[in-house]
Amino acid sequence: MKFMASCTAGMESPLAYEIKDLGLDVIDASDGKVLFEGSEDVLVRASLWLRTAERLFIILDEFQATTSDELFERLYAYDWQTLMPRNANVTLARVKIKKSMLKSPRVTQSVAQKAVFKKLCESYSLNRLPLSGALYPLHLYIRKNNVTVALETSGEGLHKRGYRILSGKAPLRETIAAGILMLARWNEKIDLIDPFCGSGTIPIEAAMIARNQAPNMHRSFLFEEWDLLSKDTILDERRKARKAVKVSQAKIIGYDSDWKMIEYATENAKKAGVLNDCTFEKMPMEQVKAEEKYGYVLTNPPYGERLKDSEAAFNLYQQMKHLKKDLPDWSYFIFTSHEGVEKAFDMKASKKKWITNSGLKTWLYFFWGPKPPKGADVDADTSGNHE
Ligand SMILES: C[S@@+](CC[C@H](N)C(=O)[O-])C[C@H]1O[C@@H](n2cnc3c(N)ncnc32)[C@H](O)[C@@H]1O
Repeated sequence: MKFMASCTAGMESPLAYEIKDLGLDVIDASDGKVLFEGSEDVLVRASLWLRTAERLFIILDEFQATTSDELFERLYAYDWQTLMPRNANVTLARVKIKKSMLKSPRVTQSVAQKAVFKKLCESYSLNRLPLSGALYPLHLYIRKNNVTVALETSGEGLHKRGYRILSGKAPLRETIAAGILMLARWNEKIDLIDPFCGSGTIPIEAAMIARNQAPNMHRSFLFEEWDLLSKDTILDERRKARKAVKVSQAKIIGYDSDWKMIEYATENAKKAGVLNDCTFEKMPMEQVKAEEKYGYVLTNPPYGERLKDSEAAFNLYQQMKHLKKDLPDWSYFIFTSHEGVEKAFDMKASKKKWITNSGLKTWLYFFWGPKPPKGADVDADTSGNHE
């Protein structure tokens, strides 16, 4: 079976790494998606374990089409009834077209829907589909006349792990927090401080990595409502995920100046099952200290998008220099859309990585300390091109 995992632009390399780490063959990783192959049960494992994937799709068909008639014929030829029951709530959820003869997503969506509905009606000898059962969202991606027909399997986006019940004004998406930790090559042996932890997303994702806890083990997926996989297969993968959890020795601390955020982060960590694996404390960044010689400060500070706030954010980043002074051997990773980080730090970043964050152009600034972990890419790279 061929699968596609979508991700935030800039997260293709950590996602491809994660997929390979599950023992699967990556076919391609580009443009916010990673293609890979595996047997049906891979769907359960990948859904439970991938930390940086936004959604998972099964690629049902790939073909060329330059006209509506060609598209209709190919979609009509597909044996939808082998996949979908008579009451399937099948929907053409998304059509994305780039550089193709078929131009209108709306017309293409209507043609595609007609083809699928007609075939299903004929297969089940129905005049009309009841559409009363489980949802089957189909996505069509058309690029240079090449059509990819994909079935979305996650339901709610995979960033919705189920633990973030409380959040502040600008919570970081869980998948991005996990991806940043991976890009920084963080592991449980490295002390971690997030001085602007907000609702705790970075410490909680780190704690789950340290415990080898599958990020999505506490949630369900759309494909579980289908007959595609046996209940036993699903239960077996869930049982394996529960068994894989280990005791963590990691030292992970989140600070925030807002007491409410500390309450939220604590509740969220509790819900994620990692309350014993990370600590939250009310403290302004200006007072944060640490005893260890080496560690990571990895954080998502206020961005200050409005002009007035932008100045305040710049001043805040300047204040962070006290951390660099007190903890000179630590590495610093700052994720922000503010462009003044290097100026405020008085230091050129060893590397900058561009990542889309809820439509904002955001950068992960790497300031490596003198002892980066083995294999870390510390070569200067400020091009901003995502890998
Ligand atoms: C962008 S939010 C962090 C969001 C967080 N990553 C999450 O997922 O919820 C920035 C946080 O910085 C906190 N903050 C602002 N100024 C601070 C300061 N001087 N010291 C500590 N925290 C501060 C705010 O209370 C806010 O929670």
